[in-house]
Amino acid sequence: MSVDVRRVGPEAAAEVLAVVRDAFGARPPLDPPADAMAEDLASVGRMLRRRGGLLATVDGEPVGCVVLDPGPDGMVLRRFGVAPAAQGKGVATALVDAAVDASLGHSAVRVLAREELPDTVAFWEALGFVETGRRSPYVELARWLGTSFDAPEAETMRGLGERLGRTLVAGDLVVLTGELGAGKTTFTQGLGDGLQVRGGVTSPTFVISRVHPSLVGGPDLVHVDAYRLGGLDELDDLDLDTPLESSVTVVEWGAGLAEGLADSRLEVLIERTVGETASADDLDPRRVSLRWVVGQ
Ligand SMILES: Nc1ncnc2c1ncn2[C@@H]1O[C@H](COP(=O)(O)OP(=O)(O)O)[C@@H](O)[C@H]1O
Ligand SMILES: [Mg+2]
Repeated sequence: MSVDVRRVGPEAAAEVLAVVRDAFGARPPLDPPADAMAEDLASVGRMLRRRGGLLATVDGEPVGCVVLDPGPDGMVLRRFGVAPAAQGKGVATALVDAAVDASLGHSAVRVLAREELPDTVAFWEALGFVETGRRSPYVELARWLGTSFDAPEAETMRGLGERLGRTLVAGDLVVLTGELGAGKTTFTQGLGDGLQVRGGVTSPTFVISRVHPSLVGGPDLVHVDAYRLGGLDELDDLDLDTPLESSVTVVEWGAGLAEGLADSRLEVLIERTVGETASADDLDPRRVSLRWVVGQ
């Protein structure tokens, strides 16, 4: 038996709906009934269109799911459920771990639990969630996530970019800020690895942007270097081969320029860490601060 968790989009609406019905149908009846019980194929598809979700399978059978719903205060987990027959196999924990991974750059993962179900509230608390409020019949819980990371070496910077790349979906905008040589391009190289696009991410010195096609049928990476760009108008005029909605766009030097391209964006600030003593082992460390700005 092995638990597998994968990222899914609206194409998996039927599987997610089946798990939701199985998981929520097994709970004691609630008044008012759980919103999840009113879900149909179209409504689940709509929820998944935004940022997708996670589907857990055991030996290929779908047994658990969660829908990811980013908001201004963090990533909200919705429709979290595990089929009754698959409980006690670590499916729920695997789903929460994967949801935390997918929320990199958000300050918190949030969830609503029904106050009539104290076992459910206790489940979230055991996984590091704390109660942040009550709005009957809901208990609001959050688990705080760090958004600052140390990158002692270029390889760590690349690795962080790679982790982030695995969380991104079509339409995402990433805005990189940091002085010349800070590591913006190095970070973008990792991002390209995580997204699984054709490699060779370099500073687009003689062109302003470059498209790296996906190798796995996912979104392409559009890498823009706005260093010599005059303003947003020029950015708008860029003759990008790939529409922004179907790709992931990364803009170096984009702060104050690129925000207009999308309602939501991931802001990445890279700073040189000033050590108290000169580093003995030639390390040139950086600090990376992430911030998801999510429009309504
Ligand atoms: N901790 C570190 N993080 C990122 N890059 C580092 C680090 N230490 C050394 N470097 C080096 O610094 C340079 C950063 O260059 P680059 O990524 O092109 O910066 P930018 O695109 O911000 O101008 C690379 O040569 C990289 O190998
Ligand atoms: Mg660069």
